[in-house]
Amino acid sequence: MYTIVLLVGFFIAAYIFHETTVKGKSCTSKAKLHGKTVIVTGSNTGIGKTTAIELAKRGARVILACRSKQRGEAALQDVKRESGSNQVVFMQLDLASFKSVRSFAENFLKTEPRLDILINNAGVLLIGRTKDGFGLMFGVNHLGHFLLTNLLLDRLKECGPSRVVNVSSAAHNWGTVDFDYLNTHRDLRVGTTWLDTFRIYGDSKLCNILFTHELAKRLKGTKVTCYSLHPGGIKTELIRNADSTVQMIISNLGMFFFKTPLQGSQTTLHCALQEGIEHLNGRYFSNCTAKNVFAKARDDAASKKLWEISERFCGI
Ligand SMILES: NC(=O)c1ccc[n+]([C@@H]2O[C@H](COP(=O)([O-])OP(=O)(O)OC[C@H]3O[C@@H](n4cnc5c(N)ncnc54)[C@H](OP(=O)(O)O)[C@@H]3O)[C@@H](O)[C@H]2O)c1
Repeated sequence: MYTIVLLVGFFIAAYIFHETTVKGKSCTSKAKLHGKTVIVTGSNTGIGKTTAIELAKRGARVILACRSKQRGEAALQDVKRESGSNQVVFMQLDLASFKSVRSFAENFLKTEPRLDILINNAGVLLIGRTKDGFGLMFGVNHLGHFLLTNLLLDRLKECGPSRVVNVSSAAHNWGTVDFDYLNTHRDLRVGTTWLDTFRIYGDSKLCNILFTHELAKRLKGTKVTCYSLHPGGIKTELIRNADSTVQMIISNLGMFFFKTPLQGSQTTLHCALQEGIEHLNGRYFSNCTAKNVFAKARDDAASKKLWEISERFCGI
């Protein structure tokens, strides 16, 4: 009896904690998006899929930019059904391949007249190499999105006011960018353990913020603004490649401390939609609020250097 009371008490306390502390703020913008076009990368699952559903509900034409044809097409049906919109399109995009990024951009620019919001959401937590020989997390989380954004920038400028939203992570706090290592190894750091994986993931998420910082400067004088963000800790498939013990620990913690994908999409939606945040161009958001970052994440020299090395790597 005593154990049951304790267990019930624990679950009630966990529920109250989740509702008051974990859940976080919601995007309050009432913006409608009829006639606007949005791209969401990695939108076949997790935060990206929910973001796509929410944007489609507001009337946007939503392009699901996903790497797997099978998963992308299955998501297309789900997004159409859950949003009640037919203005949803799947286009294949593998961010681990420059060829795929270029062909996605070419296809998009040929077939779609507008681009109002680009949401660079896709992310991977896995050691490996891209098709072009770069570290997988550097290649997918940063480089693929860097190339994609640059290829679509003129269209975003033509359609301004428009936005670029880069989904980063609080994991950037433990990241660093070693440019010498990047130059010689085309990756962020050495290592193959799970600890190394999380460290390289943090490095790649720091790249997202430095990219946004530099992009904002280069966008001055245009009607395009950009933002980076941490969505919170969210129950998604992100840890699908971790070993079973890591997965078990994280998913058990997640039951109490992680948000749902819908709650996790709120800061992305805020950055994409909230009126009047243009003066916060280039800033980092968490819980629908602009937050200060450590000096390493607003380092002018490092963000310029990352931009230049990324241009060289992408051949642009
Ligand atoms: N979940 C969290 O707690 C958390 C916290 C902070 C930040 N984030 C960030 O939130 C974003 C979304 O992650 P999530 O949690 O929703 O994870 P998720 O459920 O694993 O979704 C990740 C998405 O990225 C796609 N993707 C991976 N590699 C790709 C590639 N080479 N080309 C194109 N798409 C690719 C995946 O496609 P496939 O299904 O085909 O693999 C999937 O659609 C990521 O940038 C992540 O870093 C998540």
